[in-house]
Amino acid sequence: MCGIVGYTGRDQAVTYLLEGLRTLEYRGYDSAGVEVVGADGALHGVKCAGRVAALAERCETANLVGTTGIAHTRWATHGAPTDRNSHPHRDCSGRIAIVHNGIIENFRELRSYLQRNGHELASETDSEVIAHLIEEAWRGPAKGDLVAAVRNACRRLEGSWAIAAVCADAPGEVVCARNGSPLVVASAEGGAYAASDVTPLASVTSHVIQLENGQIARLESNGRVTVYDEDGAPVAHPATLDIDWDASAATLGGYSDFMAKEIAEQPEAIERLLGGRLGEKGIYLDELSMSQADLAAIDRVYLIACGTSYHVSLIARTLIQTWAKVQVVCDYASEFNYEQDVMVTPNTLCVIITQSGETADTLTAARRMRGMGCRVFAITNVLGSTAARESDGTLYVQAGPEVCVASTKAYTAQMVAAALLALRLAEARGEMDHAEVERHYRDLCALPNLIREVIGRSWQDKQAAPLFRRAHSALFLGRGVNSTTAYEGALKLKEISYLHAEAYPAGEMKHGPIALLEPGFPVVAIVPEDRVHDKTVSNIQEVIARGAVCVAVATDGDEAVASLVEHVLWIPPVPDELLVPIVAVVHLQLLARYVARARGCDVDKPRNLAKSVTVE
Ligand code: M6R
Repeated sequence: MCGIVGYTGRDQAVTYLLEGLRTLEYRGYDSAGVEVVGADGALHGVKCAGRVAALAERCETANLVGTTGIAHTRWATHGAPTDRNSHPHRDCSGRIAIVHNGIIENFRELRSYLQRNGHELASETDSEVIAHLIEEAWRGPAKGDLVAAVRNACRRLEGSWAIAAVCADAPGEVVCARNGSPLVVASAEGGAYAASDVTPLASVTSHVIQLENGQIARLESNGRVTVYDEDGAPVAHPATLDIDWDASAATLGGYSDFMAKEIAEQPEAIERLLGGRLGEKGIYLDELSMSQADLAAIDRVYLIACGTSYHVSLIARTLIQTWAKVQVVCDYASEFNYEQDVMVTPNTLCVIITQSGETADTLTAARRMRGMGCRVFAITNVLGSTAARESDGTLYVQAGPEVCVASTKAYTAQMVAAALLALRLAEARGEMDHAEVERHYRDLCALPNLIREVIGRSWQDKQAAPLFRRAHSALFLGRGVNSTTAYEGALKLKEISYLHAEAYPAGEMKHGPIALLEPGFPVVAIVPEDRVHDKTVSNIQEVIARGAVCVAVATDGDEAVASLVEHVLWIPPVPDELLVPIVAVVHLQLLARYVARARGCDVDKPRNLAKSVTVE
């Protein structure tokens, strides 16, 4: 949540800062702002509610000449998304400015303290106190050293932060600090750079420094980057990360939106993940960093995640319980963190599933589990993310940068990763022999082509979209593993089209939700050829009897379903019914996108949301 960038070097800062904000905009887009240390020795800034494009327009007519600066794109937490609450925030003198991602939990006490001491605060945000605390330190104990002033200010903060600060009296310097919220810095051609994640840096370098909690970095205009620990001692070997993808991976590359691009990238992402995973000894999953004996001893698996990744955990539970015969508990991280009945044994494995690797609730849950002595294994997409760094083992799903706020390719890749984990556990526990593992692996390898077929049928989703255009609500139904497909389909639809959608296990509908139905009410039923097919068909009949308009996701050739419903989204036969969700969901992604577009919504940046949810 919130994206920050900083630059000092030989070029005009505003160019990199705006470009950086554009690539980080998926982290939040309530407001945006930029501050530059001008050649005249003063700060010059522009900030406004709304998107980066609006900021860029205003920057064209502003005097933002200077080679050092900071910028921010906001997901509002404290204070409405107004011009006044936009970052950067300045101190009383107007010579210090900061941008912040995170939450300052003790900001009320700090505000009162600062106001009592004569500071005038201009916004309703928690972040603004940081600028004033730096101001106090700058004038006092830090004696004009920006690093010392930032360190001094951070000591008074409680909560989470990634901060970048500039001072008109320290030209050619950007000082960054991290505690809890991600921040990377880099020395590269043209200067020194800072950003919330590697996306804006991929065009200037392939090598970045990942700040650790408590560290502070000084960026200088000659490109030098110095990292200091909490006590102010230089860190000789800060943590580094090589960016292994091309900057163009985070561009549209001819697609009209990132959602379309990312849906299309799913087959290749799964092929990358599966490549070379089966050897003579079985499933290759060294990322677990566990011996055969430790794997065999696992007696319980906790799967913890949020949002779409939580839906992955539901599928993973079925796969692990069915294939490896281990008991699995799934939990929303935000719920898990306050539960009192968590039962772990010495052989409990905790698996966190998180595309971004930065979701605050999920990280808190992982820390809690580690605190209870559990091994934590992360399934994530983002290289070097906090989840990866804080876990005992990490499986990268290698889906490439996912920019659209609505997760698509990470969802399917994470399900495949969960299947690999389930197979590895099954093998280690002696629940499957090599031939069986090989058969399941072959089934997984069939998925990319099946998904390609579904993508080739996107016209079916386009044709179904008008059925939802004027609806006020929609119901998604499925049974077994495909009740999860229903949950994910409903989440996709509501988050990008703002159409209320509810998902229910199809058999539960008659216990309440069926009362919602009236003529014309759209219902999406996931009804592939599987053991619960006929039961689901009966449920479809029940909704149609109440006048609902039913769209079904069904297996090629299913005339029984085709003759009942208004519209069919066809999927090719999938070799294992437990893997159907990985194929069927692609229709629901496509459908949600067409409905959102028909309703005039921005599919990549839905209102009120952010890609990376770094606040609890
Ligand atoms: O990065 P994570 O997987 O931890 O994110 C979890 C959720 O915030 C995320 O899946 C969210 O639900 C998506 N917007 C859904 O499309």
